[in-house]
Amino acid sequence: MDFITSTAILPLLFGCLGIFGLFRLLQWMRMKAYLRNAVVVITGATSGLGKECAKVFYATGAKLVLCGRNQEALEELKQELIASQATKVQTHKPYTVTFDLTDPEAIVGAAAKILQCFGYVDILVNNAGISYRGTIMDTTVDVDKRVMETNYFGPVALTKALLPSMIKRRQGHIVAISSIQGKISIPFRSAYAASKHATQAFFDCLRAEMEQYEIEVTVISPGYIHTNLSVNAITADGSRYGVMDKTTAQGRSPVEVAQDILAAVGKKKKDVVLADLLPSLAIYLRTLAPGLFFSLMASRAKKERKAKNS
Ligand SMILES: NC(=O)c1ccc[n+]([C@@H]2O[C@H](COP(=O)([O-])OP(=O)(O)OC[C@H]3O[C@@H](n4cnc5c(N)ncnc54)[C@H](OP(=O)(O)O)[C@@H]3O)[C@@H](O)[C@H]2O)c1
Repeated sequence: MDFITSTAILPLLFGCLGIFGLFRLLQWMRMKAYLRNAVVVITGATSGLGKECAKVFYATGAKLVLCGRNQEALEELKQELIASQATKVQTHKPYTVTFDLTDPEAIVGAAAKILQCFGYVDILVNNAGISYRGTIMDTTVDVDKRVMETNYFGPVALTKALLPSMIKRRQGHIVAISSIQGKISIPFRSAYAASKHATQAFFDCLRAEMEQYEIEVTVISPGYIHTNLSVNAITADGSRYGVMDKTTAQGRSPVEVAQDILAAVGKKKKDVVLADLLPSLAIYLRTLAPGLFFSLMASRAKKERKAKNS
């Protein structure tokens, strides 16, 4: 019996491992082929996650269009990429397009410029965004609107401006960098959480509507990442928050998150949560035990209020 078990199980085990390894290799090769020479547009490429996404997509041989508000910073990144020798694959000189996502007219003009760069777009990464800190009662509606314009209406307008050319080619991939706060809402982040919930909802609808044209939609929901997001956040009166929050400082490295995003896009994943266990569990708690989730958020609000007033 022992002899039969050992002679049957070991080859079976190695066979399974071999098949799994082969599957992973094929998946990796397919992913590389999908991204190599793909025209990839990245918004918010001047900083943090967008900058790191630019680096990883560039290194796979993608043809980049780097977008942001600061032309100097975009040009600097472009030169950095050209000078980098981190890859053996053939790379392509990136283009840059400067515009503000809160300006609807600028978005229409920018979309035309983006299309002129390589003639078409394969992948749009809607990454640019701002965060917010404040109480609902102290926050002016203008601030709510500014966050919504940057994080929601801007990406929606850019996506709509680029979709017709994708539909014509029956090829394209829209990526939305949302947040864990697109799935759960945390006190004193109302405008941000609302903008990310809207993002999740819009791009979920888009995925269903675009299936007939074979256009992919990926929504990525990261947890905290160590970038300047909290420093650049706006407060209740619209001024810059200017503080590196402890949670953000302790967040994941943007390099690692960019690599995870590259893999998720390459594998054409539909909805990806890139967060630690606790925030991931909170999503389930919100669905399965909403009462408990709401009390936890209320005590979090109480604790933060107390800390601020002490
Ligand atoms: N960091 C985190 O903990 C975290 C967690 C989950 C999700 N995210 C999401 O990740 C994305 C990238 O954020 P990040 O962490 O890399 O923050 P970041 O370092 O502050 O970068 C934000 C980027 O968005 C651009 N941007 C802001 N407002 C814009 C506007 N009106 N028009 C055009 N571009 C604008 C910024 O450009 P300028 O240089 O011109 O300001 C910058 O390039 C955001 O969507 C954010 O919500 C971040």
